[in-house]
Amino acid sequence: MSLSLKQIAQHPTPYYYYDMSLLRQTLATIKEAISPTPNYHVHYAVKANANPLLTSEIARQGFGADCVSGGEVQACLDAGFAPQDIVFAGVGKADWEIALGLDNDIFCFNVESMPELEVINELAAERNKTARVAFRINPNIDAHTHEKITTGLNENKFGLAMEDMLPAIQRANTLNNVEYIGLHFHIGSQVLNPDFFTPLCHRINELQVQLEAEGIATHNINVGGGLGIDYENPNEHPIPDFEGYFSIFRTHLKLRPHQHLHFELGRSIVGQCGSLITKVLYMKQGHEKKFLITDAGFTELIRPALYDAKHFIENLSATTAETTVYDVVGPICESSDVFDKGVRLPLSQRGDILALRSAGAYGEVMASTYNCRSLVKGYTE
Ligand code: LLP
Repeated sequence: MSLSLKQIAQHPTPYYYYDMSLLRQTLATIKEAISPTPNYHVHYAVKANANPLLTSEIARQGFGADCVSGGEVQACLDAGFAPQDIVFAGVGKADWEIALGLDNDIFCFNVESMPELEVINELAAERNKTARVAFRINPNIDAHTHEKITTGLNENKFGLAMEDMLPAIQRANTLNNVEYIGLHFHIGSQVLNPDFFTPLCHRINELQVQLEAEGIATHNINVGGGLGIDYENPNEHPIPDFEGYFSIFRTHLKLRPHQHLHFELGRSIVGQCGSLITKVLYMKQGHEKKFLITDAGFTELIRPALYDAKHFIENLSATTAETTVYDVVGPICESSDVFDKGVRLPLSQRGDILALRSAGAYGEVMASTYNCRSLVKGYTE
């Protein structure tokens, strides 16, 4: 990690450190990987990290945005994303959130239920506007990921079942203030093997044939996000295999001429560029274990407690090569406040600085103030 101890000392721990140079390299790699296909568009899934340090850079580089709340739409507008590059998903869009999208002429609402379609139509009519809508279809595909972040299977609160797709589009086509422009999918998150997106391509090919038989034209296909990152070896794989990922779609998805393909990538864009920096408060010698008690807890990084996620832990200040095994735990009064158990680290002591790596996605943005703690902040150096 390109962070010197002098830099670390600049901010009170715990805090998030963002490696902007890695973010820029990641963005450049994505641009390079999609450059042969100008009809491919990447929307940054801002739910992964809404820190303006990152969003303003991503917007400046010309990426679109994928939002799931009015707050995110506003944050993206503030960060400089062009409204015509913003897509807005979410199962429960409140009226004011839909209105915000309409008033700013965002590119598309990803509609997840029939009542939502009717409300978008009504609110658009009040404004004398036409809302562009895509239907989120549940493709019933197993993304082979953690149960709490898989979304593509049938029994799910997201999207419409495949058999409801046609009636939904037909209904949209009878409404005056919505325009059907596409289909939206998302199979899950932290999908490590790009091959798991192949069945999605096949499913979309089938659905396209079905729609064409009904004379329905679909201009946009949105395949969501989900590309995973290497949490175990962040130093070896700081940038995910975007080339391999996009080539799955190039190989398997039968895009029609003039169709645009949209991606909503979150974790793969910002995940590796963030680390949670924390200080060891105490080394507690138990009877069978040694605990490193840190000043960060699940209030700063909830992924281990919520999804059994593992983040690679590094001691940035250790001066010895001698190692031992620790349970690394936070200060929150809950037994789930454990970052990892049985981690081999250099001998560590009070005052040492640890980095929890690969925490740029779903880290700072999921922080809380539980136990009346201060909300964690993020810095670039
Ligand atoms: N599009 C849709 C419709 C989504 O639901 C998501 C993520 C994304 C795009 C972006 O997915 P990504 O490229 O980041 O995998 N908090 C969890 C992850 C939740 C993902 C929710 N949806 C975690 O920390 O692992």
